[in-house]
Amino acid sequence: MGLGMGLNLLLLLAMVATNILSLYHLSSLRHPSASPSHSHPIPVPDHLLHQLHTIRATISHLSRLHSAPSPPPPPPELLLFSRLSPIASSCSDHPDLLRRFMTYTPFSPCPRDTLSVAEPLLLRGCHPLPRRRCFSPTPPTPLAPSSLPSHPFPSSPLPDAAVLWPPTSPCRSFSCLPPNLGFDFRSTEPSRFLSFRSALDLPLPQLLTIANAAGAAPIRLALDIAGGTGTLAAHLKLMANATVVTTTMNLGAPYSEAAALRGVVPLHAPLQQRLPVHDGAMDLVRTGHAVNRWIPVPAIEFLLYDADRVLKAGGLLWIDRFFCKAADLQTVYGPLIGRLGYKRIKWAVGNKTDASGIKHGEVYLTALLQKPKQTTLPVGGGGSGKA
Ligand SMILES: *[C@@H]1O[C@H](CO)[C@@H](O)[C@H](O)[C@H]1NC(C)=O
Ligand SMILES: *[C@@H]1O[C@H](CO)[C@@H](O)[C@H](O)[C@H]1NC(C)=O
Repeated sequence: MGLGMGLNLLLLLAMVATNILSLYHLSSLRHPSASPSHSHPIPVPDHLLHQLHTIRATISHLSRLHSAPSPPPPPPELLLFSRLSPIASSCSDHPDLLRRFMTYTPFSPCPRDTLSVAEPLLLRGCHPLPRRRCFSPTPPTPLAPSSLPSHPFPSSPLPDAAVLWPPTSPCRSFSCLPPNLGFDFRSTEPSRFLSFRSALDLPLPQLLTIANAAGAAPIRLALDIAGGTGTLAAHLKLMANATVVTTTMNLGAPYSEAAALRGVVPLHAPLQQRLPVHDGAMDLVRTGHAVNRWIPVPAIEFLLYDADRVLKAGGLLWIDRFFCKAADLQTVYGPLIGRLGYKRIKWAVGNKTDASGIKHGEVYLTALLQKPKQTTLPVGGGGSGKA
């Protein structure tokens, strides 16, 4: 708005200036022409021509600016923040969302935009989000400490008052959420990761035994990528006193709130960004169901190499029910995983028998892989000659 008015004013000034200069030019030409004795016209002074050119160029530049709808200026909070702290480059690829995210009243309650703006930005790779100076909304009724579950598999439903349910959401209670989303803590979740129904399953007691035998034990720290409500973290906490952090998004349901209520840490991090964990820190990394063929192959490749980065030497990578087309497993994903150079402890492939799986000829892969205990430098990489 302000920019548009400024442009109009500049345009007006430039036009007035041109007209005045043209008048001056004409009058200085006409004056000598009063005496017809001159056979050739008096040349126009160079500086005048130069100024006219400059003004014409300015006018055409301004009119071009004026005709193209110029974006509104960034919010002052964003400008201030950008000076204090750099923003991940993917954020600037989505200026409209970023502008919406950073348009708020400082020192006041933040807008309720987690689902409408913050997660859409995160899912587009804008991670970490810029910081804001406002108060994140909290549920209206304070939670009594006694209503917090004391066990990660609580026998009574999680307290609904712990979630700021979106007003438009069809579900505003944990009991209303579809049980298969990971919110059934009484029957589905307690047995998840424990039973062996097909070769695609890797029950945790077996995993811990394998870890012992493979020299990967104890599993003290782990990362569960796209781990929903944190059920793996809950199990490994009970079974092995392990600390597991879970990356999760609130797409369609309050996964992060549920994980936090269960006493396990939810990391609000998208799949395509560097895992917020230091190199070589983890004993185990699991990739969940959200890691599948819908993610572009190069993004999967970067994800796997980032998992490698955070795994300690000898650590375990558990690819849990990754799905893709059967042919792609042979030609694309198998070789891609093979390039990590990990030891295959488990490699199980099974048909994906749901409607979409049958339609696209998809298969599941569950793999347990071990990172080499010693780094083997590529031949020639260290200047050590040829093998
Ligand atoms: C976990 O830690 C507690 C407290 O140190 C201990 O009593 C318990 O036996 C440990 N559990 C396992 C499975 O290691
Ligand atoms: C899996 O699907 C393929 C192709 O549809 C079929 O040939 C194969 O027999 C199936 N395997 C099992 C174990 O059902």
